[in-house]
Amino acid sequence: MGILESIRLKAKSNKKTIVLPEGTEERIIEAAAKITEAGLADVVLLGNAEDILDRGSKLDMSAVTIVDPSTSCKKDEYVEELVKLRAHKGLTKGQAEELILDPLYFGTMMVQMGNADGLVAGAINSTGDVLRPALQLIKTAPGISIVSSFFIMEVLYKEEYGQDGVLLFADCAINPNPNAQQLAEIAVTSAKTGHDLVGLDPRVAMLSFSTKGSACHEHVDKVIEATQIAKKLDPGIMLDGELQADAALVESVGQLKCPDSEVAGRANILVFPDLQSGNISYKLVERLGKARAIGPICQGIAKPVNDLSRGCSVEDIVNVVAITAIQAQ
Ligand code: ACO
Repeated sequence: MGILESIRLKAKSNKKTIVLPEGTEERIIEAAAKITEAGLADVVLLGNAEDILDRGSKLDMSAVTIVDPSTSCKKDEYVEELVKLRAHKGLTKGQAEELILDPLYFGTMMVQMGNADGLVAGAINSTGDVLRPALQLIKTAPGISIVSSFFIMEVLYKEEYGQDGVLLFADCAINPNPNAQQLAEIAVTSAKTGHDLVGLDPRVAMLSFSTKGSACHEHVDKVIEATQIAKKLDPGIMLDGELQADAALVESVGQLKCPDSEVAGRANILVFPDLQSGNISYKLVERLGKARAIGPICQGIAKPVNDLSRGCSVEDIVNVVAITAIQAQ
């Protein structure tokens, strides 16, 4: 069974409610109809009902719930809670009343207050605008100090790389320049996500342009320190670094450069030292290597919120909603 098929089956097995704040966007409306038809999740679209139903007039919208933030009976309750949550930042009631009309804030409050299990947006909003309300209001999960992201990558050479061709790349979408402690946390969280969500037997490679001291530079030092911290944070994880990408992925190179490593040559979770390398790498592997890239998926938020690429297709939205639903299970 392919990774997407197993994700969809898992989502169906315990249906969750996902809010899509960009409710009047055509791809979102089409995805909502597909998701409810396939039974992957219950969907709440935010926006004006007439607008949404008009745009979706050729689709089966019978199982899709529509909520208009401007007329919702929950508005006052959400404003009150919003003021409490941002009291330390001096948010006034007037400012909260304005903020709650923004579907991204309204949707985030639905998740925070338990009226939805997860949120997906980003078809027409930037990553920052989608994630900021979640970072401010839902915050990090217990024991986690940094929210990060990953892509599930499914490559063509299934026997050669990852676990049956499936790998996790982190962090490719959120943290521009994590310090050693943050990088270590991203590695440990990714190992857990890889196991729980994707079914990987995690082998985590801390990537660099150096393999075990082959180069000296402060950028390499950060990865070496992060590797040491990650091993202390969770000694049970198979994790090694610093490794170059070929030493991490190619069995013969791994054996040559690090014969004693249980990760080198067999890594299925790649942790990039910063966002430039992570973001560039996943896009290169997707485009030049014709891999399937599913994500970005956020990890470390107390409740699931996920961002879409603005170039996303209807299928991409369906997939990210299914993964969000699983994260909520
Ligand atoms: N983990 C946990 N909390 C965080 C994180 C994090 N990684 N980042 C910010 N926060 C919190 C802050 O503590 C702060 O909380 P507070 O208001 O309660 O004090 C709140 O979030 C806002 O923090 P800011 O520093 O103001 O963060 P900002 O909103 O400017 O940015 C963001 C956060 C949007 C995630 C930023 O790091 C960013 O823009 N990252 C890059 C995103 C990007 O462009 N990715 C590439 C494209 S995606 C793609 O190609 C698929």
